Amino acid sequence: MSYTVQFLIAVIALVIVRVEGKLVEPRIAGGSDAPQGQYPFMVSLHYMNPVDNSSKHICGATILSENWILTAGGCIIGPNFLNDHFLYSGSVDLESGGRTHLPIQVEVHEDYFLGGFDIAVIKVDPPFDFTDPSKWAPVPLPQTGFEVQEGLPATVLGWGQETPNTATVQFLKAATVSTIDDSNCSMLTDPANMICAGTSEGNIGHCYGDNGGPLIVEGVQLGIISYSIACESTLPSIFTQVSSYIDWIAIHTV
Ligand SMILES: *[C@@H]1O[C@H](CO)[C@@H](O)[C@H](O)[C@H]1NC(C)=O
Ligand SMILES: *[C@@H]1O[C@H](CO)[C@@H](O)[C@H](O)[C@H]1NC(C)=O
Repeated sequence: MSYTVQFLIAVIALVIVRVEGKLVEPRIAGGSDAPQGQYPFMVSLHYMNPVDNSSKHICGATILSENWILTAGGCIIGPNFLNDHFLYSGSVDLESGGRTHLPIQVEVHEDYFLGGFDIAVIKVDPPFDFTDPSKWAPVPLPQTGFEVQEGLPATVLGWGQETPNTATVQFLKAATVSTIDDSNCSMLTDPANMICAGTSEGNIGHCYGDNGGPLIVEGVQLGIISYSIACESTLPSIFTQVSSYIDWIAIHTV
């Protein structure tokens, strides 16, 4: 298949995926349970249905500071976002051991669109308490402009579905993928501000992704899970390149 055809399929698949809302029903495929304490910056964004007060995990996010979290722009959905969502932190188990926070302010990138500038920050109440670092800690970010090399092991994290027709999972999953150079990733719409990662075998970590969650390389959050195309293919996942948005984050989290 030529890259052009592959790219067109990718774009079409992306649109279909978006239309069906699958991007907010994420999953980490091929992962394993993450131990408590290893990723204390990990947060779950929940949607709460006002009709019956039932709630469900819809996206991942990470702790930036006492008051702010980082997620994907595509996770900020609905006219009533601040009233029908909450955050859950401090535990790999969505059912116990964690704490809930209300979103009180949200900033989505001004240029966010279906496939670019996929970044947002949310201010939470109550703030995170960093006295127990096995539960809560800010995630280290890269320096402005940092570009990752090809072939480094990277971890994607999320509570998303593991297979297309199952529910989201109760315990945080981690999967290992490999970074791919921009020049070897035909699907980037904005290579300067995106990262590509996947596995040559496919089927690991890069199904519909756990949008808003992190791509971690050597302990640093280099990417925000943005989108992926097809679980059964070897096409990689696409991440927002955090190093392109360090100034944006600083300006919007004061
Ligand atoms: C949902 O929760 C709110 C606030 O706690 C409560 O006032 C309301 O009655 C609940 N609605 C249902 C359907 O349980
Ligand atoms: C792109 O992939 C090829 C084949 O796997 C590899 O040899 C090459 O080093 C990669 N390019 C970069 C810039 O890493």
